[in-house]
Amino acid sequence: MTSPEKTTTFLDRLSEVATEASRAANAHNTQPWELRHGTDHIEVGWRAEDALGPSDPAHRDLRLSLGTYVESLLIAAAEKGIAVGFDLDLDITARRVGRLRPAERPYDTGFRASDIAGRRVWRGAWTPQQIDPEAIEAARETARTAGFRVAAISTAAARPLLVRAYHWFFGDPGIAAELMAWTRLSPRHPKYHRDGLNDVMLVLNRVERFLMGLLFFPAVYRALRPLGLPRLLTPLSSGATAGDGVVLVILGKGEDPAQEVTAGRLVTRLWLDLFRQGIYVHPQSHVIDCPHTVGDLAALCGAEDGERPLVFFRVGIPAVDPSLRPRHPRRDLPPQ
Ligand SMILES: Cc1cc2nc3c(=O)[nH]c(=O)nc-3n(C[C@H](O)[C@H](O)[C@H](O)COP(=O)(O)O)c2cc1C
Repeated sequence: MTSPEKTTTFLDRLSEVATEASRAANAHNTQPWELRHGTDHIEVGWRAEDALGPSDPAHRDLRLSLGTYVESLLIAAAEKGIAVGFDLDLDITARRVGRLRPAERPYDTGFRASDIAGRRVWRGAWTPQQIDPEAIEAARETARTAGFRVAAISTAAARPLLVRAYHWFFGDPGIAAELMAWTRLSPRHPKYHRDGLNDVMLVLNRVERFLMGLLFFPAVYRALRPLGLPRLLTPLSSGATAGDGVVLVILGKGEDPAQEVTAGRLVTRLWLDLFRQGIYVHPQSHVIDCPHTVGDLAALCGAEDGERPLVFFRVGIPAVDPSLRPRHPRRDLPPQ
């Protein structure tokens, strides 16, 4: 049994690394995680107000994001020699995905806190450079070990699905409103340095920033939507699959929502490993959420035996160095 003194130290020390872990990738930069201190453990849960609605209808991205956070926290703790383990225990009513508790030894990982701190997504242009097939093979192997499968498809094959999914995405008033609620187009926005999607990481120039603010303004959106606004916006946004790059899709078996937390942990390991090789990712969730594309995506990935797509992301080499640009903010970290 753990002594009360040892437990206090464990809980205090874990709080130290929670800030570093908040660099974890997460949907819309909502940072939904919440740590609830118990006497001998910390519950990992989420805040209802930070859970997306129409843009994440099944809350799959929420659970994935909590998984990325847990994995990042375990990595950050391991570097400080803090022995912590995670017990998955999803309870939707209690808004909890599991518990962090003292362990015999620190988490066994080859990643460092600096990997977590450096990683970021890339939504800009890509070079034509093909990524090393060994990197894809390594991703497949990592996924296999974790009980998932990674399928690699060409961006050319994924593009028609992405265009259809964007059309659905931009045509849904609920999704459009939520996108704007989490978008910060100017540093004057009161939450610009706190959370959400900023103009820099959306890689918007001045004109695009202006157009986005205008076209998504509720009255303008309502007036233009029936006149074909979604069709106008779609080609502007589906550039993620331009060129001859590769899209990786993580597939899981069965419908258990708890596996999405585990898949989120895998996402962190995959993205950090790619990042170490100079390979960036651009996730595109709506291809999975869109009812008109998820079936075709599963077929494209050769899904069988109850497999379903969980995460979709383009991989490649950015045309400009992303590290020269400010990154997405975090509530607990100073602006960078
Ligand atoms: C589960 C999950 C789903 C995501 N879905 C999308 C997406 O559909 N489109 C997108 O541009 N970014 C997506 N992202 C990336 C997040 O927006 C990004 O991680 C967040 O804004 C923080 O930025 P950073 O990862 O660069 O620190 C997703 C990330 C996660 C973990």
